Amino acid sequence: MGELDGQVTIISGGASGIGRATAVRFAAEGAVVAVFDRDADAAAAVAQEVGGTAYTLDVRDGDAFSSAVRGVADANGRVDVLFNNAGSGDLRPLHTVDDKIWHRLIDVNLTGTFNGMRAAVPLMLDAGHGTIVNNASLSGFMPTRNEAAYSAAKAGVIALTRSGALEYGPAIRVNCVAPGHVRTPLTAAFEHFPEVFEPVERTIPLRRIGNADEIAEVVLFLASMRSSYITGQTLVVDGGISLPQAGTDVALQQLFDRFSS
Ligand SMILES: NC(=O)c1ccc[n+]([C@@H]2O[C@H](COP(=O)([O-])OP(=O)(O)OC[C@H]3O[C@@H](n4cnc5c(N)ncnc54)[C@H](O)[C@@H]3O)[C@@H](O)[C@H]2O)c1
Repeated sequence: MGELDGQVTIISGGASGIGRATAVRFAAEGAVVAVFDRDADAAAAVAQEVGGTAYTLDVRDGDAFSSAVRGVADANGRVDVLFNNAGSGDLRPLHTVDDKIWHRLIDVNLTGTFNGMRAAVPLMLDAGHGTIVNNASLSGFMPTRNEAAYSAAKAGVIALTRSGALEYGPAIRVNCVAPGHVRTPLTAAFEHFPEVFEPVERTIPLRRIGNADEIAEVVLFLASMRSSYITGQTLVVDGGISLPQAGTDVALQQLFDRFSS
């Protein structure tokens, strides 16, 4: 018996990366999976892979998100789990972020999450239960340079998670995952610059970039009854890179190795 047997689940941004890995993981645990994505072909391919259904929409469009969520409920009787995962990033100094880029990053990452919660909550309240998992980022706690709009949006996702948990318990649990560096199409550009990324990997206590399956595993935990007494929390999944002094520690270790040999 799977951990999500017969559960009706929605994954936004389910056509790629962490969303796709979660779709595969949920399906392996017996879930009915609805893949929400703006990329129709990729969503259809993942839906076929997991025996689910694809819905093409832009998460920025609140009406489209609501009608797709209602479509899933009409087809399956209810919605048990929503994973608000669709997101996108951008790198540039704060003062060069123009209105268009600012609104894209806030709208996709933050408003998209809000739209999903607003659409699913009434159905979950009517059913008396439900679980929402949002995807933030380590950047929501610890911004890196040139990510101001993205980091602000992800900090907002963490706040929405806490608000949702307060307002909708005990019927609905709302939690959040905050990945560090994860190898997906979003970060594929980094693969072209190993000379930039290898030193970063050395500063991660687990000494490597994460993979999408490792995030999907945590999303499954937060979506399932294994986390039945957890709500309003954000679980950082970053190989330890956010530990204070993780970078300095590597430099000190190298010094130590040099002087002790
Ligand atoms: N990869 C990382 O290192 C990393 C780290 C921290 C957080 N995250 C977060 O994880 C989530 C997934 O990222 P990923 O790395 O799997 O990226 P990805 O680019 O592989 O997948 C993102 C998916 O979201 C979809 N999408 C984007 N904008 C959309 C919109 N407006 N409407 C509908 N669908 C949309 C894309 O089509 C794509 O299928 C994002 O929220 C991202 O911010 C990723």
